[in-house]
Parts: sequence; C-alpha cells; structure tokens
Amino acid sequence: MDKFVIRGGAPLLGTVRISGAKNAALPCMAAALLTEDPVILENIPQVRDIETTRKLLAAMGAEVELGYGRAQHRTTIHCKNLASPEASYELVKTMRASTLVLGPLIARCGRARVSLPGGCAIGSRPIDLHIKGLESLGAKIVQDHGYVEATADRLKGAEIVFDKITVTGTEDLLMAATLAEGETLLQNCAREPEVADLAALLNKMGARIEGAGTATIRVKGVSKLKGAKHRIIPDRIEAGTFIIAGAMTSGDLNVTGCEPSHLGALLSKLHEVGVKTKHSADSVRVMGDHPLAAADIITEEYPGFPTDVQAQFMALATQAEGTSVITENIFENRFMHAQELLRMGANIKLEGRRAVIRGKSPLSAAAVLASDLRASASLVLAALVADGETIIDRVYHIDRGYENIEEKLRGVGAEIKRIGEIFPRRRGANG
Ligand code: EPZ
Repeated sequence: MDKFVIRGGAPLLGTVRISGAKNAALPCMAAALLTEDPVILENIPQVRDIETTRKLLAAMGAEVELGYGRAQHRTTIHCKNLASPEASYELVKTMRASTLVLGPLIARCGRARVSLPGGCAIGSRPIDLHIKGLESLGAKIVQDHGYVEATADRLKGAEIVFDKITVTGTEDLLMAATLAEGETLLQNCAREPEVADLAALLNKMGARIEGAGTATIRVKGVSKLKGAKHRIIPDRIEAGTFIIAGAMTSGDLNVTGCEPSHLGALLSKLHEVGVKTKHSADSVRVMGDHPLAAADIITEEYPGFPTDVQAQFMALATQAEGTSVITENIFENRFMHAQELLRMGANIKLEGRRAVIRGKSPLSAAAVLASDLRASASLVLAALVADGETIIDRVYHIDRGYENIEEKLRGVGAEIKRIGEIFPRRRGANG
C-alpha cells in the first residue's frame, strides 16, 4: 500500500498546472459506447479511475488506446463490436461511476448487465434514479444477484423529472436519450460543468441536446451517432484543492490550466476568509499572506459550494481564527477526514450533517489513514502545515482522482515523497 511522507511548513510558491477533469472524462469515455466510430478524447487525467474505465470498456469488446506522456493524455475509444455489454462487480466495486455505462449500453445494444455499485465510504449512494429514468424511457430492468439486468427495444423519448439532483443520473439518462425515438425532456437536472462537457461531446457526435448545464435539458433522439474528437474541461476540484493549499501554506501559487468560472462558490468563500486571488482566463493566483478568518459553508449542488471540496475546506478551517460550521447536504457520511484531522490536533465536533471547527489549531504530524478520495486530499493539505513529518497510508484513494499529486506539490516547494509503487504506469500508447 502506497504511503505519502509529508514534512509540513513549506509555503507553496510557483506555478502548478491542472489536469483534465476526472468527472468529465468518465462520462465522455462511456459516451463512446454510443457509436461504432472512434471517439478521441484529449486532456484525459492520468488517474486510476480512467484506467479502471479503460478496463471496463475493453472487457466489453471496445478497443481503447490510452496514451500518456508523448500522447499527451489522450485516449481513442473504438466500440465497433460490443461482444458483452456487461460491467462486472470486480470493476464496479472499485469505481461506482461504472454505472455510467448503463444508459449507453441499453441505448446502443438494447441490453446491459451492470453490477450494482454496492456501498461507499461517503454514503449509501443508490442508483434508483438512474433505473427509474431508464424505465421511463422504456427499458425493462430487473435486479438479480447484485446485478442490474436491462433490456429494451428502441428506447422512447419521455418527460422525466429527477426526484433528487443527481450528476451521473443526469449523465446516464442524457446519453440514453440521444438514441431514443422522439424527444426527451429531463427536468431537475444537475447543472455541473461536467454535464455540459458531456453534452458538448455528444452534440459533436451528432446528438441534438439543448439546455445542458441548466436544470432542464431537451434531447431530440437520432438513429445513429458518429465519432468525434473532444478536449476534456479542466478539473475544478483539483484546482480548488491546490488553491486551498496555496492559501493554507501562506504561499503565492499560480494555478494554471483551470477554468475560474467553474470555481465561483469556492473563490467567494475564500475571499470571505481573507484569501486574496487574482484571475486570468485560465488561471487563479492565490496569495496566502493574510491570516485566515473562520467562515461557514453549506454544500449544495452546482453552482453552490461543491461537496467535493468540503473536506479540503475543513482542513483550511482548522487554520482559521474563529468557529467555522460546515453543513454537508449531499452525502450522509462525508466527514471521515475529521477523525484523522482530530488526531493531528484539530478541534472539530461532529453533529450529524454538521461539523463545528474551532481554530486556529496548530497541527502536529501523525500517522493517518486515507478513507476516500477527497478525505485523502484533506489530509495532504493538513500535513502541508503540520509540525513534523506526517505519514498518510492508503494513498491509492488519492490516485483515483489526482494526477501525480506528489510531483505537482514538490514542484511548488512541498516536502512530500511517496513510499511504494504508484499504480503500474502504462508503457507506450496501448499499455
Ligand atoms: C458525482 O457522483 C461525482 N462523481 C461525485 O464526485 C460528486 O461528489 C457527486 O456527483 C456530487 O456532486 C462523478 O461525477 C463520477 P449524485 P454521483 O448522484 O453522480 C443521491 C469525487 O470525489 N442519489 O449527484 O454518484 C446520492 O445518494 C466524487 O470525484 C440517489 O438517491 O452523485 C447523493 O446523496 C465523489 N439516487 C445525491 O443523490 C440516485 O439514483 C447526489 O448524488 C442517485 C443519487
């Protein structure tokens, strides 16, 4: 199991480049299932979840080239023949987002067998809304032995109102609707930028989608989709993580290759706590030369404060003067990082969906355990300001969604090293 060893105290100075968005790349890779032609995606992040998706598509019979290094983070996915439209438990249990293949497989092949994702550290995370929506489009779905078995002749357009706002639920239904007969109206949709990025790819493939990025999306079904080339948007969660790191370490950090317009809620909250930032079209410079003041956050669907930055903000709140209250509205168990921060000297009280953080607490290095992707990031941030050498175990969690985070941090002055072997790097284009 890989570990990080981080010696705290260094301010982050210089420039760090943000990678492509994992949560846009995953649905865009699944979208390739909708056509017999090759789909080329650029700015793909080199993270474990992308590798898992490559395996998932290849197991169905797709040809997936996944190039790194020279190939500049590019993948070509060619789903000419899909021998087995299935997603096995072995793969789905490592990545819940595998359920994103459900809609495309039903739309393309008329059948799908996808493992139910099972439990997750941050919450129960059911996929009932995916299933309900696909049934509205005419799919026959049974759940048997832990799998969703779906069949459909041609899907038929329908009016669907999501009971709850769901990001991958919106994406799954959006992909299915592109090949349905007639028009589909999706309401109460997720408005995340990753949904709009998926729609941009689908429209390049010949889909007819209007309204992506808003709560109401209209899709006119077509009979076939063609291949396309698309560049994935920058990862707003990675960008937010590094911006918080620059603020916490009293650094002067230029976060480039990002999309400041996707960071509105976080940036306005950071200004509230006293962080200065300067923006250009594709970068945010963060200057942590002011003491941090406490502030409350409430996580909401986009464009509200993102739940995926909540853990990172909690680390910052431990260094802010005063009492910050964090309310986590999206997931029921997304405070796993709090126990580890407490062991580093933070003052945090958990009350159901609320966490009360009293700062400023000097943090001391400790041996801590990563529990999920964003909790891991929170521990890295805390370690960057802790006194001494922190050891973070199970960093495979962080490798799921952050590309070479230790190299990026070292590049701007952090004292961090990895013990163990990063997930096997792929050799050459096909790996
Ligand atoms: C996406 O997960 C992201 N993952 C998550 O990022 C992110 O935290 C989440 O959206 C919320 O923004 C990807 O995009 C791959 P949801 P998703 O469906 O789609 C409930 C990360 O760190 N719900 O929007 O699975 C659900 O339980 C990951 O990169 C149902 O009840 O989240 C939750 O309470 C973690 N039934 C709420 O809706 C359903 O059928 C929002 O979940 C679907 C969801």
